Amino acid sequence: MISPHIWNKKYYNLGSKLGFPLRPCYAIAEMDCNSKTNNPQHKAVKNRFDQPTSKSPWSTAKIVATIPSRWPLRLGYMHSFATTKNYFIIIEQPLSIWMPKFAVDHLQFFPEEDTYFYVVSRNQAHPQSRVFRVPAFFYFHTINGFETKDGEDDIIVVDICCYDDASAIDSMYVAALENAKTNPDYAKMLHGRPKRFILKTANGQVAESQMIVNIGCEMPKINVEFNGMPYNYFYAICSDVADENPGQLIKVDVVNNTFKTWNEPNAFASEPIFVPAPNSKGEDDGIIMSIILYSGESRAGPNRSTLVILNARILYHCKGKLDDPSPCYCKENSLLVLVDKRKHFNKDYCIQ
Ligand SMILES: [Fe+2]
Repeated sequence: MISPHIWNKKYYNLGSKLGFPLRPCYAIAEMDCNSKTNNPQHKAVKNRFDQPTSKSPWSTAKIVATIPSRWPLRLGYMHSFATTKNYFIIIEQPLSIWMPKFAVDHLQFFPEEDTYFYVVSRNQAHPQSRVFRVPAFFYFHTINGFETKDGEDDIIVVDICCYDDASAIDSMYVAALENAKTNPDYAKMLHGRPKRFILKTANGQVAESQMIVNIGCEMPKINVEFNGMPYNYFYAICSDVADENPGQLIKVDVVNNTFKTWNEPNAFASEPIFVPAPNSKGEDDGIIMSIILYSGESRAGPNRSTLVILNARILYHCKGKLDDPSPCYCKENSLLVLVDKRKHFNKDYCIQ
């Protein structure tokens, strides 16, 4: 599932369009979540807090950009994309699926092929796209992208959690996980680093790609107010599984190329979520929420999980915990359900 990007209260998401015998395509869909449906057949939908609403995003859905795959019968594996004020940025890695047999088992990585950045104008009156090419890398998640200037030159910056190849996917099969502790090469499969790519729009060149910080980062999250804009921070979990504290949360300063970490011994953090403070006074003025799963060697004991709330500015455990006597390792949507279910947050856990 790809997380949508939101601009002017419109949602943008990336899908694929098969269209045989034509070449398969990547397609950007737009949904206007503000407009009310005019079609009486569209029933009122319920939002995530079960409040009825007359809005039906599907009634407004339309494809606003289509980009053909580089291969006639293959589509690149996509898990995220980037948007800036004027562009959609679709990153086609050379990990592709053979369309006649549409299954994950038919994914193939071509290390000798480049990774392509398709930079597509969001101006539908003047649709244009350009391709920027860099040596092959694999990724699940983009971090952020934005337009800026380098002297007189217009540039687009794209930050991505990168891996040298697609062996990270192999590390997620059950058999690989069962043997993770005895496989000396398991950590190498997940060895990645966050990188910054600088695309020069004047000459179509990638000026440089550079490591942002020397620590493996995954499930990156930013303050969404800064999506597509120059930004300073992202939050992530650690992908260095052989690290002394592999379950740590990370706050990365992309301007100064530094990072802070937070962890509990023998505990593993899930995807962090940044929530801005009311009347927030800065990009990192808010909290980080994450579900922590405890291992057997931890203080809390095995099969327990906790929602932790950290001060995002200093990555300090400031707000509280919500213990759960069951194993629970969540992504964002599940975490929101959990919080919604437990409306009566146990104040005994709160540090005021
Ligand atoms: Fe994801």
